[in-house]
Amino acid sequence: MKALVTGASGFIGSHLVEKLLSSGYEVSCLVRKTSNFRWLENPNLTIIHGDCADKESLNNIRGFDYIFHLAGLTKANCGSEFYTVNTKATENIVEIVPKNNPQIRRFVYLSSLSAFGPSLNSKLPDENHKPHPVSDYGNSKLMGEEVVLKYRDRMPISILRPSAVYGPRDKEIFLFFKLIKRGILPYWGKGHVSLVYIDDLINAIILSAEKEEAVGEVFFISDGMVYSNEEVINEIANALEVKLMRVRLPKAILPVIGFIGENVGKVINKATMINRDKIKELMYSEWVCDISKAKDKLGFMPKVKLKEGIKWTAEWYKIHRWI
Ligand SMILES: NC(=O)c1ccc[n+]([C@@H]2O[C@H](COP(=O)([O-])OP(=O)(O)OC[C@H]3O[C@@H](n4cnc5c(N)ncnc54)[C@H](OP(=O)(O)O)[C@@H]3O)[C@@H](O)[C@H]2O)c1
Repeated sequence: MKALVTGASGFIGSHLVEKLLSSGYEVSCLVRKTSNFRWLENPNLTIIHGDCADKESLNNIRGFDYIFHLAGLTKANCGSEFYTVNTKATENIVEIVPKNNPQIRRFVYLSSLSAFGPSLNSKLPDENHKPHPVSDYGNSKLMGEEVVLKYRDRMPISILRPSAVYGPRDKEIFLFFKLIKRGILPYWGKGHVSLVYIDDLINAIILSAEKEEAVGEVFFISDGMVYSNEEVINEIANALEVKLMRVRLPKAILPVIGFIGENVGKVINKATMINRDKIKELMYSEWVCDISKAKDKLGFMPKVKLKEGIKWTAEWYKIHRWI
């Protein structure tokens, strides 16, 4: 079976590539000339150069049975960049796929819990609830979903909305590991999150491609638990064996911090995780979801709970001298 992974050089994509290879797929990766290849050194991989934002460069996407569209922008210095990559580039891909890949068995789009938005009441949201993204990132991913759904009559599609993902190679939740390692943690109030360990997410992605029941469907994905922010912070601090000093920040100051972070990003010409768009999300405290549908329809059974997942992740960061 021939599979193509976009976003293969990234955190999630590189893990998916490894799992597909070990499961017997013939794997190709769509990568930009500027992409970092450090996780893609397996000689059994085929590299296809292309930029999803440049339609002309996508003509080599042909003859695939499975396409996993993970390429996306999770941080940007300017809101419009999210739409260029997460929405328009997704449209470029879905326009080309049915034409050049008539035998396609599944097109999987990796969306995000951000496309749905935070929970606004005490109920765990499921896929029947109406999305209400609160950031440009979330909105651009929801518009990406809509673009993919428009093509559901021309090819079998599945959409996943993972919660925050953590594990080896991740650079986003890693920021918390770095801060906590220094013993200081700014906080701005209570909240809850759904999380998923990378290996569980990869299993969900493959299930969504292989299961007939997933055709045309959207699924929330997490480890099935709801954690308080406090629990997550404590697990990281335990894994790193540090005593934490918490520094309380008034919520009102967060947009200022986002503004500063974004401007630093512009000066160094590199988007940082601290930007105004991310702060729009942090102003909401409940980033949670119900994964009953994925359990029922995909047979998705998350295996890794917070304690062990954080422990393994911390070990990996230590071994690779990230912290
Ligand atoms: N990490 C999470 O917690 C999380 C949660 C929910 C959903 N997601 C979604 O999962 C996907 C992967 O996220 P990640 O955490 O693995 O992010 P990541 O590590 O930043 O990887 C992003 C990937 O997208 C590629 N990419 C970006 N723009 C591209 C373009 N124009 N053309 C081709 N490739 C492009 C990047 O390639 P380069 O190496 O060339 O930059 C990289 O391979 C994203 O769509 C994201 O929205 C992530």
